[in-house]
Formats: sequence, structure tokens, C-alpha cells
Amino acid sequence: MNIQENISLLPFNTFGIDKNARFFAIAKTTEEVNQLLLKAKEMDLPLFILGGGSNILLTRNIEALVLKIEIKGFDLVGESDKDVLVKVGAGENWHDFVMHCIQNNYAGVENLSLIPGTVGASPMQNIGAYGVEIKEVFDHLEAIDRNTLKLRTFSSEECEFGYRESVFKHELKDRFVITHVVFRLSKTSHINAEYGAIRQTLAEKGIQSPTIKDISDAVIEIRRSKLPDPAIIGNAGSFFKNPTVSVLSFEKIKSEFPNVPGFPNEDGIKIPAAWLIEQAGWKGKRFGNIGVHQFQPLVLINYGGGDGIEIKDLSKKIQDSVQEKFHIILHPEVNFL
Ligand code: FAD
Ligand code: EPU
Repeated sequence: MNIQENISLLPFNTFGIDKNARFFAIAKTTEEVNQLLLKAKEMDLPLFILGGGSNILLTRNIEALVLKIEIKGFDLVGESDKDVLVKVGAGENWHDFVMHCIQNNYAGVENLSLIPGTVGASPMQNIGAYGVEIKEVFDHLEAIDRNTLKLRTFSSEECEFGYRESVFKHELKDRFVITHVVFRLSKTSHINAEYGAIRQTLAEKGIQSPTIKDISDAVIEIRRSKLPDPAIIGNAGSFFKNPTVSVLSFEKIKSEFPNVPGFPNEDGIKIPAAWLIEQAGWKGKRFGNIGVHQFQPLVLINYGGGDGIEIKDLSKKIQDSVQEKFHIILHPEVNFL
């Protein structure tokens, strides 16, 4: 357990922003998390918990102890005829976990293939893609209270999951370090191929009765064709959440923009933020080292050497122009630091 000083966070965030951590340490076990939390208390240091850095925007140097969670391990902790309970270390790579499930024929996370980041961060925003969110396979998690250093268990209800939301982004923001997540996965796979792009990809391949591996392969193919690879071009996935408007507001927009896409949900109609941003004229725009992706305008990008403040300023301009044109407020999905 080693606390380093003045470490560049460039290799630790997928936006590829070069800012420093005043102090930096890696925790590979729950005990190490505890020791480092204690140390931070002794040194009176603020803390920032880091996973894979794929959902953060660094706008400044971090005058804190950046604690990177690298707790590993997959453990089968329960089994019935129908399902299994798998306990996963917070520092496991999410996609490696998905691949582990597919190899063992555990169904439920195949639609979430290739999402970057760690297992420990997955409950933070209830990660989701292609018709599935982790709340559907989540059993409980273990976390250490940063104030008392006590271990606590959270059920799904206690996590208060919503669309890209959880209690850890609100009432309990900066209060817990997630050390393990326990998932309930199905042994009798019930395939979810409802999402249009998945159906289309499977049809193109002539697959009529897909396995979970087929779904995973289709999702990987779709994602590779749509989203920029952070290893090549800096980004944090969708920068904003997709807004939901009332049916009345949707009809008003539709009267002026007949092609507006809309997807009904329990709260109204979801409008793709990508469409709003494209209509506001931002798609593919480049400003020096940063810009808006040419195929997916919901993704802001760093071509290299870009600054977090510049990206934050660009995101504000995008928000203002969408609000002016459509009277819709876009809320960031990315966590600003
Ligand atoms: P980080 O960026 O390191 O941290 C995110 C937040 O979680 C921070 O506030 C951090 O403090 C906190 N945190 C991290 N680990 C812990 C822990 N162990 N305990 C307590 N707090 C913690 N997201 C989706 O939902 N769906 C997608 O389809 C999707 N696609 C993406 C595609 C690309 C190309 C990229 C770059 C990102 C995408 N994302 C997507 C966003 C991102 O992958 C997820 O939010 C992911 O869960 C972030 O994991 P991370 O480990 O990188 O978290
Ligand atoms: N669209 C445009 N112009 C474009 C691209 C897309 O108008 O250039 C419109 C189209 O109407 C398209 C719609 O946007 O049908 C939706 O696009 P896409 O299927 O790419 O999905 P998204 O809404 O942009 C969401 C998630 C992604 C997730 C995918 C697949 C959010 C904020 N984003 O993106 O999650 O992978 O669906 O389920 O909900 C992330 O959270 O970082 C992320 C990448």
C-alpha cells in the first residue's frame, strides 16, 4: 500500500485529460481500502474514488487522495435450479465480467457487453444499454462507509436505481466505497433481443434463435460501429442523458419538427439527445483539440491535448442551444471534477 504524490491522471481517464492527483493510491483488497481511508482521515485529506475513469471529466488538478479501486475476484456465492449469485470485486473490468458470465452460460448481462469501466462503478449510474439495466440482475452490494469505516450491504431498493441514477449520486454522494457487487444471473437464459439494432443485426446474420453469445456479439458489433474507442479517441460515452418530455411537449415539438424521434416510457416520451444536438447544428463540429463526434453527437471528444474546461464550456454551449431551440434542458451523464 503505497501513497504516491503528484501523479498524472492521463492514463486513468478515458477522456484523455492530463490533470494531476495530489496523492494517488491503489487498493486491491477491502482491508487496503480501510487502511487508506484511515490514512486519509489522519492526513485530513479529501478523497476521490476512481474506477476505470470512463465517466469522469477532469477540469482541474485533484487536491485529494485519488483512491483507485482494484479489488478483484469472481465468486459463486449461491446457486439454485434457476439462477446463480456471483460476487464480483469492484475493481474487475465490467466487460471481463460479462465475458465470464457468457463462458459460464449465466444470462442477464450480455446486452451490456463492451461498456467500459469497473464493476464497482456499475451501480453508481445503474449502467444500461440495448434494453437492459444492471438493476435487473443486481442482488446487493457491499460498501464501506467513508465516515465510520463500517461495511454495509445495500439491497436493490436501497440503491434507488433509476435511469442512469442511484442513491450514490444523490443523498449518499461521496459517502461509500463500493467493494463488491453481487449479481443474480439466470441459468435458463431468457434472451432480450427487443432493441431494434439487435434484431436487425441478428436478422442480417440469419440468426433466429440467438444464444447469449449471439446477443453479446451483436451488441459488440453495433457498439464498435457507433461509438468511438476511447483507446483511440478520448471520450466518456454519452455526455448527456436522454431527456423525457410530456406527451403535450412532444406533440408541440412534433408540429414544428415532424421527424422528431420519440420513445414512450412511463414518464412521457424520451427524445434522443443525439437528435436534439444534431438539430442544433453540433454534429461533427471540431474546435481545436475537442469536438462533437461525427456519427454520434451525444459523445463529446478529445482529439488529444484537449482540456477539461474546454469540454465543459462546449457542453454548456450545447445545453444552451438545445434549450433555446427546443426548451429542453439536457442533464450531463458524465461526472465533472
Ligand atoms: P469512473 O469513471 O472511474 O467513476 C464514475 C463515478 O463512480 C465517479 O463518481 C466515481 O467516484 C464513482 N466510483 C467508481 N468506482 C467506485 C467505487 N468502487 N465505489 C464508489 N464510487 C465509485 N454507460 C452506460 O450506462 N451505458 C453505456 O452504454 C455506456 N457506454 C459507454 C461507452 C464509452 C465509449 C464510454 C467511454 C463510456 C460509456 N459509459 C456507458 C459510461 C461508463 O462506461 C460507465 O458509467 C461506467 O460504469 C463507469 O465506470 P468506471 O469504473 O470507469 O467509473
Ligand atoms: N441519433 C440522431 N443522430 C445521430 C445519432 C443518433 O438523431 O447522429 C438519434 C436517432 O434517432 C437514434 C437515437 O438517436 O435512433 C438513439 O441513438 P443510439 O441508439 O446510438 O442511442 P443513444 O440514445 O444515443 C443510449 C445510451 C447509450 C447506450 C445506447 C444503447 C444514454 C444517454 N445513452 O444512447 O449509453 O449504449 O443508448 O442502448 O442513455 C452511455 O451512457 O455512455 C451510453 C453510451
